[in-house]
Amino acid sequence: MEQPVLMTIFGGTGDLAQRKLYPSLFRLFRKGHISQHFAVIGTARREWSDDHYREVVQESIQDLKPTEEEAQSFSQHFYYQSHNVNDSEHYSNLKKLADDLDDRYQLKGNRLYYLAMAPQFFGTIVQNLQSQGILTDNGFNRLMIEKPFGSDYDSAFQLNQEIRSVFPETDIFRIDHYLGKEMIQNISAIRFANNIFESQWNNRYIENVQITFAEALGVEDRGGYYEESGALKDMVQNHILQVLSLLAMEPPVVFSQEAIRQEKVKALQAIRLYTEDEALANFVRGQYDQGELDGQQFKAYREEAKVAHDSVTETFVAGKFFIDNFRWSGVPFYVRTGKRLTEKGTRINIVFKQVPVNVFKDDYKKKQPVNDLPQNILTIYIQPTEGFSLTLNGKEIGQGFTTTPVKLDYRQSAEMVENSPEAYEKLIFDALNGDSTNFSHWDEVAQSWRIVDIIRHAWDNQTPDFPNYQAGTMGPQAAFDLLAKDQHSWAWTPDDWYRERGKLD
Ligand code: BG6
Repeated sequence: MEQPVLMTIFGGTGDLAQRKLYPSLFRLFRKGHISQHFAVIGTARREWSDDHYREVVQESIQDLKPTEEEAQSFSQHFYYQSHNVNDSEHYSNLKKLADDLDDRYQLKGNRLYYLAMAPQFFGTIVQNLQSQGILTDNGFNRLMIEKPFGSDYDSAFQLNQEIRSVFPETDIFRIDHYLGKEMIQNISAIRFANNIFESQWNNRYIENVQITFAEALGVEDRGGYYEESGALKDMVQNHILQVLSLLAMEPPVVFSQEAIRQEKVKALQAIRLYTEDEALANFVRGQYDQGELDGQQFKAYREEAKVAHDSVTETFVAGKFFIDNFRWSGVPFYVRTGKRLTEKGTRINIVFKQVPVNVFKDDYKKKQPVNDLPQNILTIYIQPTEGFSLTLNGKEIGQGFTTTPVKLDYRQSAEMVENSPEAYEKLIFDALNGDSTNFSHWDEVAQSWRIVDIIRHAWDNQTPDFPNYQAGTMGPQAAFDLLAKDQHSWAWTPDDWYRERGKLD
């Protein structure tokens, strides 16, 4: 069923709009979720004509191989309005265009405002949407906002106040694009549809949980933004804590947005708030130096465009969280993320406790000791491959009794992955339908900032010894020591593969 809507994109000429939003809208168009009764207004400072805008939109969907007719009929729904967000008069032009399009496409007053701009403009935009009468009273008015949502708790609180003075929480869709990813959504299925896992999902059976968000790319052309943000705010405050809350939360009573949110918030609230000294002991940071991987040379972070030559911004974070509730007490949740690591890979490893006694410790027939049993690990692969695997121990064929690791592996086929909806496609679809399950609620954002602010503050009081890891490796030594202190180790070590083959120092 088609949902009539007028979508206004602030930042319509930007990179995000072209890389993610227009292709996602086109996918929705192809599937008929938007078809006759939709229109898009792109606004930004630049002076563009509708024709030019439509060409840009067509260009942005080329990878999806539209027919000429599809590209034409899709892009005809796009209109451009040059706009200075600080100038109230501009909003009257916007209102006029919005009302015209509402009539022309019979949009029933439904409006979705997408803010793909720097957050300092969010407050002004929403105030003007209200004061200049752009909000309708006969349809829905929903706001989609890109991250970052504030730069610490105080600024996020302030921003939230401004937005909430115009939009109720139920109409605010704060994007965390990881929540649109297929395998992140699958965490709930793995946990709550499989008794074999859910019955073991606690501190009696799980020894530790490891969440890795590794990126092979460097900072690319986003040095300006990244210098201000760093890996802690760029990835941990939002994506990683969201994933952690999905892994740690109690089963919701029903699978509804309210019930899930309540449980996620409870999980976040149970994360131990460290003192600054504890934060320093439990979190480590890194910055990439030059490096070489498989014959490819990479420059140091400090040599990247728009990055200070003595920058102290971290491009890597690893840390340990504790969740102080009955289910998780004593189980470390290790997290790590970084740029210019060995491989792009987002994965979760659930490391199960050892059996109480290893009866195979000595091979009684061969009369020789055998290796310790490897632990059972459930791995959830988020990207680039999607799926999950479970490592178990079996018996090696032959005389004697030597155990051998066995891996039960399930990966989605490349074709399935190719055809699965883009994260942004799902998120726009959900916002059109008023479903906020896969968006960040203010209570989640607030608690995440409280957690992260302490770490940030502790770090800001000390000067780091940067750079401290070579591009192409899996981060600084301190990230390995962090687990070694607890007699644990990272389950995923793609760097070993390259080292064993002489492709990495
Ligand atoms: C963004 C960060 O939120 O997520 C980027 O700002 C990061 O720095 C990106 O590269 C990673 O997302 P994905 O979907 O490519 O894993």
